[in-house]
Amino acid sequence: MKTVNERRSRNWFARDGKDGFIYRAWLKKQGIPASELEGKPIIGICNTWSELTPCNSHFRELAEAVKRGILEAGGYPLEFPVMSLGETLMKPTAMLYRNLVSMDVEESIRANPLDGVVLLCGCDKTTPALVMGACSVDIPTIVVSGGAMLTGRHMGTSIGTSDIWRFSENVRAGKMSNEELAMAEAGMCRSDGHCAVMGTASTMACMVEALGLSLPQNAAIPAPDAARKVLAQLSGREIVKMVEEDRRLSHILTREAFENAIRVNAAIGGSTNFVIHLLAIAGRIGVQLELQDMDTFSNGIPLLANLQPSGSFFMEDLYYAGGLPAVINALLPHLHKGCLTANGQTIGQNYSNAVSYNKEVITDLESPFNKLSGIVVLHGNICENGAVIKPSAASSHLMQHTGKAIVFEDIDDYKKRIDHPDLDVDENSVLVLKNVGPKGYPGMPEVGNLGLPAKLLAKGITDMVRISDGRMSGTGFGTVVLHVSPEAAAGGTLAILKDGDTITLDVHARKLFAHLTDEEIAQRKSNWQPSYPLSTRGYVQLYQQHVEQAHLGADMDFLKGGSGSEVTRDSH
Ligand code: FES
Repeated sequence: MKTVNERRSRNWFARDGKDGFIYRAWLKKQGIPASELEGKPIIGICNTWSELTPCNSHFRELAEAVKRGILEAGGYPLEFPVMSLGETLMKPTAMLYRNLVSMDVEESIRANPLDGVVLLCGCDKTTPALVMGACSVDIPTIVVSGGAMLTGRHMGTSIGTSDIWRFSENVRAGKMSNEELAMAEAGMCRSDGHCAVMGTASTMACMVEALGLSLPQNAAIPAPDAARKVLAQLSGREIVKMVEEDRRLSHILTREAFENAIRVNAAIGGSTNFVIHLLAIAGRIGVQLELQDMDTFSNGIPLLANLQPSGSFFMEDLYYAGGLPAVINALLPHLHKGCLTANGQTIGQNYSNAVSYNKEVITDLESPFNKLSGIVVLHGNICENGAVIKPSAASSHLMQHTGKAIVFEDIDDYKKRIDHPDLDVDENSVLVLKNVGPKGYPGMPEVGNLGLPAKLLAKGITDMVRISDGRMSGTGFGTVVLHVSPEAAAGGTLAILKDGDTITLDVHARKLFAHLTDEEIAQRKSNWQPSYPLSTRGYVQLYQQHVEQAHLGADMDFLKGGSGSEVTRDSH
C-alpha cells in the first residue's frame, strides 16, 4: 500500500514553482481541470492501435471503454501510443521488432507520470512486447486483450487462419482453384479481432490470463462481443484499485505463475511461440525459467480444449463453451491455486466455479481430446541447447522417424529447389532449413512449417519431418521441429548438415540427432564460414549484435531484468 503522496505521479504534479507549473500547464491544454491532477491515480493506456495492425484496429474504441472504468473508479486516464506490430504486413518478420517495441513500452512508462498502466494487446507480438516492457518497470499493470475475430465462413464451412496452409497446399497440388481461393480470402476475416484459432495471438491472450495479468474471461471474449467492452471498462476500474493497493507485476509473476501458464498452454494446445515469449517475460521480471521447464511442466497435461490447429473449433466456440475459466477450472488439480491475480483474488478463487457448457469444446481431465499435448523439448547433436516440437499438431506416424536429409541453406535456396522435379525427395526424407534463426534471417520468421514438395503433395502426402532454427505460426501444424539452438548462423551443428545425412527424430525419447560422429562434426565445423546477411546500421545491427538464442527467449542481452520505475534524471 502506498500513500497518495508516495505515488509516482506526485513527483510531477505535486511540485511547486516552475517544475510543477510546466508539468501541469501543458497537460491542461487538453482541457483537463486542475482537480484531476491533485492526487488521483494517473493511469496510462498503452495502445497498439494501428491501421497497419489490422488485428488491433478496434483499439481506439476499446481504449474509450477502459477510460470510462478508470474515471468511474476515481483515476485519471492518459492514453499513449507505442509502436505496433502487424503480423501479416511487417517484413521481414514482426518478431524482429518485438524487442524494439518492448523498449518503447518500458521507456514510455518510466519516463512519464504514470501510477499504473493498462496494456492493450492483440496481434501476436504486441502482447509479449508490451508485457516485457512493463515488467522492466514493474508498476501496477493490467492487460486487456483485443479478442479474436468471429469464425470465418467459406462455402458453408467454418474457416480460420490454420486453413490457409491447407488452401495453399491444395492450390499447389491442383485440388483448389484460384477462384475458390479468392472466395475463401473474402470470408476469412469477418470482424474486428485477431486470428480466430488457437494461434499465437489467442495463445498470448490465454497466457496473460493464466499468469494472472488480466481479469477472468479476458482470453476468449470475441472482439465484436459487447462483453469485450465491459471487460475493458472493468479492467479500467481494477487498475485504479491495483494502484491504491500497490499490486505490481512482480507480485503476480512468481515462478508458480509461470508454471501455471505452461500447464494451461498445454491444455489449450497453445502455440510454440509461447515458449520464446514466456522465457523472455521471465527474464524481464527476474524469474528463473528454462527451456526444459516447458517440457517438465507440460508433461502429463492432456489437451482439454478442442481448438484448431490441434483440434476442430474456434475461439468463438471456446468463449461460448465457458472460455478459458472452464479450462483452468478443469486443470485446477495441476495448478498452483494460491497464485495472485490482477483483481487481488487467487487463481483458485477466480476459477473454482467455472464450468464447461460444451464438452465437445472444453473437456475434463478424465476424457481429454489428446493425452499428448504441450511442448516437447528435444536434445541431441543437432540442437545442443534444445529444440521444440508441439506433439498435438504433429503426425503420430512421424513421432519416431529416421530419414535422409534434404538440406536448404536458407529460405531462398528452399524456394528455388522445393518444387524442382529433380529434387531427390520422398515422404521419408527430412527437410532441413538453415539460417532462419534470430541472427541469421534476422528475426526468426515463421517459416518452420515449410511447404512440402509439390510432387509429394500430388501423391497425397500431407506431412513430413521438418527441422529448422526458425519459428512456426501458431496457426501452423505438422511434424515440425523448431527453435533449434544454437542456430545455424551462430555455428550450431545445424550449420554443417548436408544433403543425405541421416537424421533421427524420437519425440518420446526427446531426441533429435544426425548420425555423425563427434569427429565428423568437428571436422565440418572447422571448415564452416557464416553465410547470412549482416546489417551495418540502425536497430537491426543492434539486434543482430545482441539478440540471444531461442532457448533463452530471443531477447536482447542488455534488456534482461529491469531498471524499475525510478526516472533516471530530473531535468526541470
Ligand atoms: Fe494478427 Fe493472426 S495476424 S493475430
